Amino acid sequence: MSQCSIDIWRDKLNEELLLSTYIYDNVELRIESAGDDDSRQIEQIDRFVAAGVDLLIVAPNQVSTITPALDRAYDAGIPIILFDRKTDSDRYTAFIGADNYAIGRIMGRFVATDLGGRGRVVELLGLETSSPAIDRHRGFVDALARYPGISLVDSETTDWTEAEGERAMERLLQRTRDFDFVFAHNDRMADGALRALRRHGIGPEVHLAGIDALPVPGGGLEKVRDGELTASYIYPTRGDLVIQLALNILQGHPYERETFLQSAIVTADNAEVMLLQADEMRQQSSRLSELHAQVNRYLLQARHQQVFLVLCALIILLLVAFMVFARRMWRMKRRVIEETTQAKLRFFTSVSHEFRTPLTLIADPVDRLIADPQATDNQRHLLTLVRKNVAIMLRLVGQVLDLRKAQNGRVQFICSRLDLAQALREWTETFIPACERRRLTLEVDVPNHLTVITDRDKVESICYNLLSNALKHTPDGGQIAIGLRPNGLDKFTLTVADTGHGIAREQLRHVFERFYQVAGADNVGTGIGLALVKHFAEAMGGGVTVSSELGQGTTFEVNLPTTMEGEKPERDRPIEPPVPVIGPNNPGAVYVDSHSTAPDSHGDADLADLPEVLVVDDNEDIRQYIAYLLSGLYHVTCAADGRQGLDIAEQTVPDLIVCDVMMPVMDGTEMCRRIKQTTVTSHIPLLMLTASTLEEQRLRGYDCGADGYLTKPFSTDILLARIRNLLENRRILRDIFSQMEPTPPAQSAQPAGGWQAPKTTEAVQSTPVDTLITPSQPLPPNPEDAFVALLRDRLNHKLSDPDLNVETLSADMGMSRVQLYRKLKALTGHTPVELIRITRLQRARQLMKRGGMTVSEVAYEVGFSSPSYFIKCYKEQFGMTPNAKGS
Ligand code: FRU
Repeated sequence: MSQCSIDIWRDKLNEELLLSTYIYDNVELRIESAGDDDSRQIEQIDRFVAAGVDLLIVAPNQVSTITPALDRAYDAGIPIILFDRKTDSDRYTAFIGADNYAIGRIMGRFVATDLGGRGRVVELLGLETSSPAIDRHRGFVDALARYPGISLVDSETTDWTEAEGERAMERLLQRTRDFDFVFAHNDRMADGALRALRRHGIGPEVHLAGIDALPVPGGGLEKVRDGELTASYIYPTRGDLVIQLALNILQGHPYERETFLQSAIVTADNAEVMLLQADEMRQQSSRLSELHAQVNRYLLQARHQQVFLVLCALIILLLVAFMVFARRMWRMKRRVIEETTQAKLRFFTSVSHEFRTPLTLIADPVDRLIADPQATDNQRHLLTLVRKNVAIMLRLVGQVLDLRKAQNGRVQFICSRLDLAQALREWTETFIPACERRRLTLEVDVPNHLTVITDRDKVESICYNLLSNALKHTPDGGQIAIGLRPNGLDKFTLTVADTGHGIAREQLRHVFERFYQVAGADNVGTGIGLALVKHFAEAMGGGVTVSSELGQGTTFEVNLPTTMEGEKPERDRPIEPPVPVIGPNNPGAVYVDSHSTAPDSHGDADLADLPEVLVVDDNEDIRQYIAYLLSGLYHVTCAADGRQGLDIAEQTVPDLIVCDVMMPVMDGTEMCRRIKQTTVTSHIPLLMLTASTLEEQRLRGYDCGADGYLTKPFSTDILLARIRNLLENRRILRDIFSQMEPTPPAQSAQPAGGWQAPKTTEAVQSTPVDTLITPSQPLPPNPEDAFVALLRDRLNHKLSDPDLNVETLSADMGMSRVQLYRKLKALTGHTPVELIRITRLQRARQLMKRGGMTVSEVAYEVGFSSPSYFIKCYKEQFGMTPNAKGS
């Protein structure tokens, strides 16, 4: 809206315009006023056009001055409503306002009537180039023309303002004082004129009339009521209709191009009523404004609340995002910790594996040196120190491996009936020297007996770790108490309490974590022992708790079931060597056997008669050590990898092979598989030796045909016993199957302590001599069947050939002489020469029994070239001559 002036009439209009927009939520009204200045109004209009307003309402200051600006707006396609005043152009969309010509006429008629048809009138015109002034004047003059007694004696033009009205009246008075009525084009000018009249001493005898009749304080209505003005005409504002028209245009609704607002004249008769009405209306509109302001406030509040809500949502979103992020970070941290722990564990596990072999190689020789009667006391003392520390290292190594197994859920429990009270007393005894040295009181509060079914080794490990921990954290002179008591019907409780420096509350929940070390403890451990305690206790269906007070001490309480499922009778337990250094079945333990046979006490057996053992291991120390252990009992050859081992085995056909699993070039399982697939070597018993305790490796070993499996660190005696067993079993079976007098044991390799039957069944194949001659009872299929069938076929075919000898037979069998010799000797206990002779004699015996042939004929038939030699051999074999009855 571009207003031409600033005055109370325009203020009223502006207010009505604004109020009318309140009912629409999509209307924005901007009002600017030119202050009666054309160029300012032009500039205003152009600015509105540039801003892209949708519609322009203009009250043009003058008829022609702002027409170019309006044309520009019109050309830009902006609808234009002319309000109140018009221009000389037809280029507008609609006009709304009063009919100023009609107003002029009404006022003319009133003046004439008021003067009773006779009188002199002067006129004060508004801005003469503005349309209302032009129209009002025209109407006024036209009306007066009807009254011949009325004459318009003078007139002055103004600019619609009160001041100019006063000045115009002054000018007019300079010319004449002879008039009865002053008609001013608006109330403000009438006001100014009244002041001039009074100044010149002209009283109420001269009447005054104006236009506008504004119902505001100081407005025309009041002045008419108070008699200052004789009349005024209500010049309608009707902002509501203006806005309505604008919206009709914008929304494409029908509208009138020219709208003339109707109104009425106000005199002293109706001024009071009009004022009351106007007051009522003002109150209504002020209420409306208030309401609108309130609505605005609510809207603002709502907007604030909306912003607040959005902010809250944003904060919540941020919080959630932060929590997600924090959780992810926490998880990542956990994962990194877990991965680090796993990496540590893997590293420790492989290091532990690496340690076990050299530790074994230290422990076992040390044990032997201790047992040496020639060792001095001092030497023995030092050696015992070495052995003790090796045992500690082996225990630590064992614990790492146990933890790894526990981590992978591969802990196996071997349960047996046990007097735990008794065992606990024994286990704590090993701690007594350390306690005495440090003046620690060790209290053992256990019942006389408490029988449980449990995994002895795991409980011992729990007990050992808790006691070691207590020992580490209790200062000299302190106290350690071990308690054992039944807990209900099916549980028992083991407590280990100390008077150490205690553990801080925040550290307490971490003590069972792997590799956790209590901060500030001067004697830190590996962080494995307590983790292992927890793993074992929980895996056994129990648990462990800890309570501690700084400066007071710490108490660990382990609850375990009294009866674990899967009890194995004592005899089912794996063979345990006689005196364990630390504890039985501990993978880290080296067993000391006081009866161990020192290699140099084997005696001077003729090396040629000794069974041949091939040792295949990539670790030279292990090779040499095993060779050293076996020397004197066996003839030992060594190979550094599977390939070498295979070559040597095929060349020399040893009586037994001891081999490692993990080796370069060719590993133990592959070598074993090939040995068992090659006819020359398939019968050789094979004992696998490895640093790994993993079950699946053991299984793989058996799958590829290994006859036995031994885990490092091995006990010397167990190794010797296993070798002896394998060879002895072979000998026994060979003797049984060959149905001959049992041959004496291959070698007297038994230690003084005797030997026990191995737990595992060692596969031993043997071939009865009879089967070489005639197919007898079908034997269970074994890898030697093909070999035996071929041998039988070759022998039967060539038996009558005097030239059948070791050379021809081995060539027939596709082997070298040595290979055939070694294989036959191993399988049957006979050399090929003996075997050919025995076979010939067996056949001769059959032929003699059948009858119809002379001794000489039989001798030639079975390949003897000399009957007398045949008779000699026959007698040696069967203890009688061929002719003898019953032979
Ligand atoms: C207000 C005003 C009124 C008059 C009208 C004519 O600006 O001067 O007093 O009646 O304009 O347009």
